[in-house]
Amino acid sequence: MKTYATVVLAAGKGTRMRSTLSKLLHPLAGQPLLAHVLKSVAEIPSTTAFAPYREQISTQRPIVVLGHESEQILSAFGDRCQYAMQHEQLGTGHAVLAAQTVVDALDPLPETVLVCYGDTPLVRSEMLGRVLAEHLQQRATVTFLTADAEPTTDYGRVVRDGQGRVREIVEVKRATSEQLQIREVNSGVYCFERSWLWSTLQALPRNAAGEYYLTDLIAIACTQELTIATVKGSLDESLGVNNRVQLADAEQILRRRILERHMYAGVTIIDPATTYIDEEVQIGTDTVILPGTMLSGKTTIGSWCRIGPGTTIEQSTLGDRCIIKNSALEGALLEDDVRMGPFSHCRPGAHLARGVRMGNFGEVKNSYVGEDADVHHFSYLGDATVGARTNIAAGTITSNYDGVTKQKYRTTIGADAFIGCDTILVAPVTVGDKAMTGAGAVVTKDVSASTLVVGVPARFQRSLASAETVDGAEEAAREKSAEQKSVQPVITDSVPDEGQ
Ligand code: UD1
Ligand code: MG
Repeated sequence: MKTYATVVLAAGKGTRMRSTLSKLLHPLAGQPLLAHVLKSVAEIPSTTAFAPYREQISTQRPIVVLGHESEQILSAFGDRCQYAMQHEQLGTGHAVLAAQTVVDALDPLPETVLVCYGDTPLVRSEMLGRVLAEHLQQRATVTFLTADAEPTTDYGRVVRDGQGRVREIVEVKRATSEQLQIREVNSGVYCFERSWLWSTLQALPRNAAGEYYLTDLIAIACTQELTIATVKGSLDESLGVNNRVQLADAEQILRRRILERHMYAGVTIIDPATTYIDEEVQIGTDTVILPGTMLSGKTTIGSWCRIGPGTTIEQSTLGDRCIIKNSALEGALLEDDVRMGPFSHCRPGAHLARGVRMGNFGEVKNSYVGEDADVHHFSYLGDATVGARTNIAAGTITSNYDGVTKQKYRTTIGADAFIGCDTILVAPVTVGDKAMTGAGAVVTKDVSASTLVVGVPARFQRSLASAETVDGAEEAAREKSAEQKSVQPVITDSVPDEGQ
């Protein structure tokens, strides 16, 4: 079986970004620029364009050419790639030559070398597959991708003769005013016949700019009367990111692509202009995303949810039928039928079980809140476990941080408990099942099951009769649960004002 090698250039200084971060690590839709190129490269074998060659030609891990800020890139991508070093940045031709030793060590030796630039993150796998397929079909020495652009852009211009045959690529710096009017530009994706590539690069002289341009190989192939093939793609896919204006342009195009993917897959997005969804987010069908919503990182959202308006969800997992309004979640896990907001916050380690209701101005961190529990107004649950159907009334605070020992401690509250308004639970502390605390209680000692405590510090008041706890609480929970199940999440987004 024949093989092709992929070389991705990532050694440039990225001067025009004016950044201390490598250009190729600047995030685009939540992932580094380079990650987008590598994803497209990895998907080539499964593209339609490449299908006729799938049985005859295969590839290996891409070779990334590093130079500037190589440590940053190495630690971000690790052994996902192979690497070659370009110690001095003397141009794109010089960078490709830096990969020769690594390419030539591949077994079997590849016949074709596919070269991409790490700063063209919008190129799709299907397009890369087309360039490769065209190269193989034409048995070309070199094949490259072009696009039509406005004459104001900074892409290299593709110069053709009267018969439409490619003669050369001229960079803007060296182009005549006539050449600058050429609309066809170089997108920066090439296939080369390997042996010709190395011998030509080795013989390539420095150009007037003192660099070795990969693009200068086209004129050489033309002079040698070798086969040069081209594939024309859209300018969107060719967008090269050299500065932050182009980064924002790329972001806009990529975000629109992501939104369209979700909409075609059955997600309603009310206002695409104010909705930001990262590449890796997954959303179930019939979920509605309202304006001003940002979903980022590896976030998964179930079906029939209603998210937003004004909501940010990062690195979190939500089940089906959740309703989240004007709230922020990061590193949280919400099971089915959770309702949250407006204006609440789940921080890392927040786990809200099925049917939990969290109202306004609540914060949950590193805590488990059991099924059908209510955490309505102005409360903080940190390092806590709350049992099923428990009511956390307004103003409840778990005081989890001991300022003297600088340690965090846990609060455990049982099932069917009722924590009265303004209760402060000084951790470590445990409140038993069906226990109650009076308004304003400061609980410093464990509270037994079915017991009422009141005061500061909270003291035993009385044992609770079963009518006050089990039946009462369970009946209320049953009613609440029945009411909740009758609600259609897609048309109703308000959180009923229950509990205290
Ligand atoms: C390059 C092309 C131009 C094309 C455009 C498409 C050349 C000479 N010009 O211009 O025709 O229209 O891309 O986006 O190729 N790099 C290295 N080592 C170096 C120099 C660059 O690895 O010594 C890498 C950069 O990290 C970058 C890529 O090569 O990922 C392209 O370099 P860049 O400086 O961005 O070239 P452009 O000016 O965009
Ligand atoms: Mg560039």
